[in-house]
Amino acid sequence: MNTQAVKDAFRATFGRAARGVVSGPGRVNLIGEHTDYNDGFVLPIAIEKQTLGAWSPRDDGRIAFASVQQPGKGVEIDLCEPIIPSAPAWANYPKGVAVELMREGIELAGCDVMFDSTVPLNAGLSSSASLEVAAAMALLTAAGATLPPEKLAKLCQRAENDFAGAPCGIMDQSISIMGTAGHALLLDCRRLETKQVPFNDPRAVLLVADTRVKHDIGDGGYPLRRKQCEEAAKLLGVTALRDTTMEKVQAAFQAGKLNEQHLMRCRHVIGEIQRTLQAVEALRADDLNRFGDLMYASHASLRDDYEVSCEELDAIVELAEGCEGVFGARMTGGGFGGCAIVLTEANHAGAVRDAISAGFEKRFSRRCPIFATHAADGARVIE
Ligand code: GLA
Repeated sequence: MNTQAVKDAFRATFGRAARGVVSGPGRVNLIGEHTDYNDGFVLPIAIEKQTLGAWSPRDDGRIAFASVQQPGKGVEIDLCEPIIPSAPAWANYPKGVAVELMREGIELAGCDVMFDSTVPLNAGLSSSASLEVAAAMALLTAAGATLPPEKLAKLCQRAENDFAGAPCGIMDQSISIMGTAGHALLLDCRRLETKQVPFNDPRAVLLVADTRVKHDIGDGGYPLRRKQCEEAAKLLGVTALRDTTMEKVQAAFQAGKLNEQHLMRCRHVIGEIQRTLQAVEALRADDLNRFGDLMYASHASLRDDYEVSCEELDAIVELAEGCEGVFGARMTGGGFGGCAIVLTEANHAGAVRDAISAGFEKRFSRRCPIFATHAADGARVIE
């Protein structure tokens, strides 16, 4: 891992050497989409695209945050003054993390932090969670403190919900912290229990294709889906959609308690929770064909019942489906743009990538960047 660039940026801005470097990776979700805030299961991997944070202590009780991606938009906070959200927007993520760490009883130390990220912004690869997690790692290391991973994930989620105003679930922060190289993380989003599931079959390559349609989970579509699910759960008399079945949903629909849209949202969530558990079985049985079928089914459900896909994502999945050697494909993350993932036989990966790239360009007259990824480690103190 090359940490030189972030250390150079630190020196250029703060005029001295960084003392340490920490990381917070981005993620792709293999399956289990829009299930985290329904108390269901998700199966993400951490990826090698990540946010690095170089830090060094200072002795005036202040914390400065700067970012290579946000030139001229550094901020400083005073640990003795109230910290409130304000412009520039990007800094509300690390500021929110500082506030939540203090609420947790961590005595923060003054420090300077420089971030540098390879996670593309608003591409559905959790650039914001990777920034929160890198910030938390830097602030904790500077303070000489640690927190259990589940607690840290919840704290970073709260920073995003309350401070940056984005109503995300618990998946992104959890995988950014708890990812393990070569493994996907099966996360029970209610109990925050985890299982590491091997995901490193040398026969397969995972491609990520970026539609470049910008996705922001603070926008209307995501909060609205959450609201519809909460409404349906309330009408069904359960805590969350995890606690019901399709039979009960059908009966409530027949009785006029749920509308057609509730029915569609419930069908996605209930089906997706089942598919996620089946996908884990398929991985454990080395059955990539079955795994790929579940990916296609997940995509169709997100497109038709949950209505969070878009033309560009659908096009990538269709193009992938037409290629030899592809196991499966689906959108990943919140949707309304962002990225699709394609699981393909390793010896077809080059041809699949070229075919998707050419097909996309022909249809939309612009390119979609495609990169191969693998399950990487979660957050680390690197130096
Ligand atoms: C976004 C949110 C996650 C999750 C996904 C959908 O990435 O941040 O919490 O809800 O959408 O699965």
